[in-house]
Amino acid sequence: MSESNRPHGAMAQGDEGDRALLKAARALLARAHAPYSKFRVAAALEDDAGVIHPGVNVESVSMGLTICAERNAIFGAIARGARGFRRLAIVAETQRPCVPCGACRQVLIEHAPDLTLILEGVDGAPEAVPVRSLLPRPFTEY
Ligand code: THU
Repeated sequence: MSESNRPHGAMAQGDEGDRALLKAARALLARAHAPYSKFRVAAALEDDAGVIHPGVNVESVSMGLTICAERNAIFGAIARGARGFRRLAIVAETQRPCVPCGACRQVLIEHAPDLTLILEGVDGAPEAVPVRSLLPRPFTEY
């Protein structure tokens, strides 16, 4: 199924790609640098070539300089020359899935309007959510 046609909601049973991406994200959680919030987030971004790009939140003692896991993943991927992204798995140590903040939604949509987010909390089934559904009318040009 193409990523843009995928239904919103519960992840298809047996989607091995989604599972593998979630596993990659979970393995990254230990790299998060979150000494202030203690809230660790990890993201694993799959590009059109199937390469997985890592992201974790990295906090600064000057709080506003903190970077979220999602933007860290996409900025790093772009710096590595990747273009075109399929899906992004996001994990945190929360009961319910962690959804990207507004700033990350804006950036993700700019670079990957057809991106599917694969979200998983500690409890419950993973969800597949089109990033576009989380930010109506994004700012795209000036
Ligand atoms: N954070 C993320 O990395 N991604 C999100 O989607 C939400 C928030 C980080 C930023 C900060 O380091 C910590 O979580 C608490 O806000």
